[in-house]
Amino acid sequence: MIIQPRVRGFICLTSHPEGTAAHVKQQIDYVKSKGEIKNGPKKVLVIGASTGFGLASRISAAFGSEAATIGVFFEKPAAPGKPGTAGWYNSAAFEKQAQEAGLYAKSINGDAFSDEVKKQTIALIKEDLGQVDLVVYSLASPRRTHPKTGVAHASVLKPIGQAFTNKTVDFHAGVVSDISIQPVENEEDINNTVAVMGGEDWKFWIEALKEAGVLAEGVKTVAYSYIGPELTYPIYRNGTIGKAKDDLEATVPVLNDLLADLNGVSYVSVNKALVTQSSSAIPVVPLYISLLYKVMKAKGIHEGTIEQMQRLFAERLYNDVTPALDEKGRIRVDDLEMREDVQAEVAQLWEEATTENLEEISDIAGYRNDFFNLFGFNIDQIDYEAETNEVVNVPSIQ
Ligand code: NAD
Ligand code: NA
Repeated sequence: MIIQPRVRGFICLTSHPEGTAAHVKQQIDYVKSKGEIKNGPKKVLVIGASTGFGLASRISAAFGSEAATIGVFFEKPAAPGKPGTAGWYNSAAFEKQAQEAGLYAKSINGDAFSDEVKKQTIALIKEDLGQVDLVVYSLASPRRTHPKTGVAHASVLKPIGQAFTNKTVDFHAGVVSDISIQPVENEEDINNTVAVMGGEDWKFWIEALKEAGVLAEGVKTVAYSYIGPELTYPIYRNGTIGKAKDDLEATVPVLNDLLADLNGVSYVSVNKALVTQSSSAIPVVPLYISLLYKVMKAKGIHEGTIEQMQRLFAERLYNDVTPALDEKGRIRVDDLEMREDVQAEVAQLWEEATTENLEEISDIAGYRNDFFNLFGFNIDQIDYEAETNEVVNVPSIQ
């Protein structure tokens, strides 16, 4: 079929198999160009491996230090006449390219929050790898069915305490407007968001993996967090999602205790704001990202997800480095985003941003391009008028 973008609000309903494959290949080529990551991970489990930071982590491990990888994700394969999700095609492309390079790569497509998928993953590790020495936890989800209670929790993106009014952008139309977001009405919204995006499921994974004996001596585990600028605090760090990130970060010492007898260690890495399927759903943030991109590109310090994760692996987690931690015990690869000169310039542009000057003062074009790239669109060498085979079967995805 001929596959072109079909956009609804902040999501794109279609994905292009050859375009996503080319996008994955770009990321692989970048990691290879940076050279070998010394004493890098060898057997890696990535939970949330199909898109965004999780996919970039998987690529960094596989093509930076020849790691065998198992990916867990929740994606839809194609059916005849209906394209699969971007994460499905990404994973198909990654596994093909990894296997061609002689690297072990298999995946499990299912609900990572469930006990069943944890059991299935453990069985696969036992069968094929024995143990893993790195567990990356990179889930982003709007909901979680709790495996013990059966309760279906839905996360919300809301401020806490008072309403928040600020600028936002419709990045497709390029229209800047004011948005007011009402605060949570009760603790329920906060608790649900913490249940979905907090640290409990990360802990359940590490407990289950440890109990099964599939964590190697010296194992590392890392999950991802975000802080960002003050102007997004009410909707992000001080909002419901921020409470979930507080909970995720508070899980680190718990996991360190759990891993102590294996000489294992857990980290949260605070990453840069980037265009992913998850971040494009947050109000206010896309306008901030488009201004941030402008400033960071002008200074020559812009990074995408793959640059971020390659740097995390090469300069924080491996290469015989002991990572510097901030006052709250976190790794910071948002260091360039948070630089004072960068933040001062973004804050100035934030004041100025209007629909009229948006194309000029922001990198909204770069935002849009990155957004379409997530779904395999706007990739130079792909002919989007041409027929493509939408059904991509991948035997190594269970
Ligand atoms: P993403 O949407 O690109 O990736 C989410 C992944 O989770 C996908 O692989 C998806 O398949 C998987 N997933 C979702 N629900 C699942 C389920 N029930 N079972 C199995 N897999 C499931 O998101 P992302 O932006 O890469 O986010 C990953 C992490 O990085 C999150 O913790 C996020 O908060 C954090 N982070 C993101 C940003 C940003 O700007 N995007 C910045 C800093 C930190
Ligand atoms: Na991810």
